[in-house]
Amino acid sequence: MNDAAPIVYLNGSFVPLPDAKVSVLDRGFIFGDGVYELVPVYGREPFRLPHHLARLQRSLDGIGLANPHSNAQWEAIIRDLIARQPFADQGVYFQITRGAAKRDHTFPQGVPPTVFMMSNPLATPTREQVERGVAVVTAEDNRWHRCDLKTISLLGNVLMRQLAAERGAVETVMFRDGFLTEASASNVLVVIGGEIVVPPKDNLILPGITYDAAVEFAAEARVPVVTRPVPKAEALAADEMWLTSSTKEVLAVTTVDGTPFAGGRPGPVFRKVWDVFQKRKPHAVTA
Ligand code: PDD
Repeated sequence: MNDAAPIVYLNGSFVPLPDAKVSVLDRGFIFGDGVYELVPVYGREPFRLPHHLARLQRSLDGIGLANPHSNAQWEAIIRDLIARQPFADQGVYFQITRGAAKRDHTFPQGVPPTVFMMSNPLATPTREQVERGVAVVTAEDNRWHRCDLKTISLLGNVLMRQLAAERGAVETVMFRDGFLTEASASNVLVVIGGEIVVPPKDNLILPGITYDAAVEFAAEARVPVVTRPVPKAEALAADEMWLTSSTKEVLAVTTVDGTPFAGGRPGPVFRKVWDVFQKRKPHAVTA
């Protein structure tokens, strides 16, 4: 059964992965001209789907592409795709590109967008990563100035993640002009003097759905949260540093650039918020 090709969604049809084909002229392929979302699914239940669909609309508005579906239609397609997978915990990935057209930078007129969706087993952190924390490296953020849009043009992020991988780390934490931005595929939160400090959701970071969830869960755990720019020196001297993303949930950083960080162990504030996260996500599983 596991040998069967996964079922994916392309432009209105559910098809086996090998049959899903798009034109080489697709603007996603030619220009990286599109946006995407990745929704975590626990026990076949999407987590914070309305938030992801709201962010999708924001990204589409940001690149001037009409939303091809209503939220109800998106939800129906996503639930249908989820039901077609043989595993319960999933990461549903979907992207919309500006469609296939003769290569010209200007937007084409009257061209239907390409809508693609697939679902993979959700790769949440291992128990060891949760218990021991993970390693990151740091770098200057050299991406464009619209990091708030979830676009498929991810070369800057790809290069940053590769840098981490080559140094045996899970993420590259980035700084721009001396301030913390985010990591290559996650947001970064720090804890200073018992308070969680988060960089503002401006154009330099992706407004993470998990970032918002962590902030809400912190309130539930009675941990104060402050939103303000975080100078690099403060971030690197923080009591705790966490990564958040749809696949990482909340994950403590315990090594930075090869040196133990924050005592080399996940801190007490991390533990509190992680506990609430595990209770609040659908069909909680104990790690
Ligand atoms: N990445 N910042 C960046 C640059 C990201 O790519 C992501 C998510 C996040 C966290 O956002 P969220 O909490 O909504 O997942 C922050 C996804 C998981 C990815 O590209 O695979």
